[in-house]
Amino acid sequence: MILTSTMTGIASPDPLQHAFKVKSAPHAGRSGSKPIKVDSNLWQQWWHTSTTADKRALYIHIPFCRKRCSFCNFFENGAKPERISDYMASLCQQLTIAAQTPLAQSRPFDTVYVGGGTPTDIKAEEIAALGQAIQQFPLRKDAEITLEGRLNGFDDDKWHSALDNGFNRFSFGVQSFDTDVRRAAGRFDDKQTLLDRLQQLSQHPTASIVIDLIFGLPGQTMDIWQQDIEAAMACGAQGVDLYQLIGLGGTRIDKASEKGKVLGTQASEFQADSQTRANMYAFGANRLESKDWQRLSSCHWRRDDRERSIYNSLAKSGIEILPFGAGAGGSIHGHGMMNARDLSEWHQAQAPSKEAEVNSQLASQCLPAKVPGMILSPNPSAAFDAIFKRGLDSGILNFTALEADVVTHLHPLFEAWQQHGLAILETDSLSLTLAGRFWNVNMQTGLFEFLATNPIAEAKIAS
Ligand SMILES: C[S@@+](CC[C@H](N)C(=O)[O-])C[C@H]1O[C@@H](n2cnc3c(N)ncnc32)[C@H](O)[C@@H]1O
Ligand code: SF4
Repeated sequence: MILTSTMTGIASPDPLQHAFKVKSAPHAGRSGSKPIKVDSNLWQQWWHTSTTADKRALYIHIPFCRKRCSFCNFFENGAKPERISDYMASLCQQLTIAAQTPLAQSRPFDTVYVGGGTPTDIKAEEIAALGQAIQQFPLRKDAEITLEGRLNGFDDDKWHSALDNGFNRFSFGVQSFDTDVRRAAGRFDDKQTLLDRLQQLSQHPTASIVIDLIFGLPGQTMDIWQQDIEAAMACGAQGVDLYQLIGLGGTRIDKASEKGKVLGTQASEFQADSQTRANMYAFGANRLESKDWQRLSSCHWRRDDRERSIYNSLAKSGIEILPFGAGAGGSIHGHGMMNARDLSEWHQAQAPSKEAEVNSQLASQCLPAKVPGMILSPNPSAAFDAIFKRGLDSGILNFTALEADVVTHLHPLFEAWQQHGLAILETDSLSLTLAGRFWNVNMQTGLFEFLATNPIAEAKIAS
């Protein structure tokens, strides 16, 4: 049995700060999948075949932003209005056609997530058309339908258009409330503007308003972070995500740090190191929980049960996610898939075939016409891996979902985590400590490394 410190962390008097050196990646994962060729016939056959999944979602990607923020590499395309309207017309047509297929109709969808980029930057009428296209899918009665984006530019017309057309959850990137930290990060609004708008939107009796905060931004001291947490609790939002800043390649922050610079505020060039970020996480988690905010995952808390976070929790459980839009990722009949990121490539895949061009009835039967990107072979360990991803992310890994042999096989790793202050091992579960929750992505990565180094029988993984 081989155990390394990247799997187990290290022994330290303060595991929250020192169990690992640095957060390994935004998400953990492994894939035994390879790209496969799927021709147009098989692709269309898939859309005519019922699903076998019991939980399912739609993910719809809107890859446009008005500005490139200093910390983020999700920026894909500048927000030119005509480029967006061409895209939205094609996307809504694609959704409408896909919604009528036997695959889409065979079972209701639990949740829909419209992410980006900045979906809130599309026009009010485009939000309405998108909402209506989504409503053509069979949705569960209480399906969660999220629109992601930012508060800047999300005016009352867009808000009402979204509510009137089925959206019931709104996830806004705030990042930090501090005006100077925000400006340094390339954000538009000041603190008071954000607080006023969040207060207004949160008056809605049923919609769930969720905000993202990042800790570790340039210029964001512990004092500012503490004020960020207080503002998050005071602004009226039903849910909050606390994300540690990940050094993503190609961002302005990343390029500056290669030159030894910090893109801080006028007042401060401070940027929290990994230990300070651990303390920031602990402050946020403890403060929210002391005010009865409920933890739904290692980085997400809710004020009350209006906020459900169904998409995020199901996505980590490895459910079927039909992806739409350039750059969207998901799965279809157990195959991972990733749509082309490049806009013209994506548009080309939507174009009807030559026969369909002359016969509009055929066009509506044939679409979705071609694979809009890459398809992967089924990952035999997907369901097995999802048990660990979801369990460690939620803070409790229940052994009831696993065979006894698998738990025995993993015991040396679980014991090491317990010795290192990351988890508490019980007979039928493993609970992560606060330190474990902070380091949970490293633990997930470590567990997959453990399984790759110390394999178990394939039969157990596939079962
Ligand atoms: C895809 S972005 C969309 C956000 C939205 N466009 C906005 O402007 O707020 C979703 C979230 O990813 C998070 N994020 C982006 N870059 C990050 C980074 N480098 N480290 C941690 N979280 C990051 C931010 O909190 C952001 O709100
Ligand atoms: S935070 Fe939002 S607006 Fe800024 S670059 Fe990322 S996706 Fe675009």
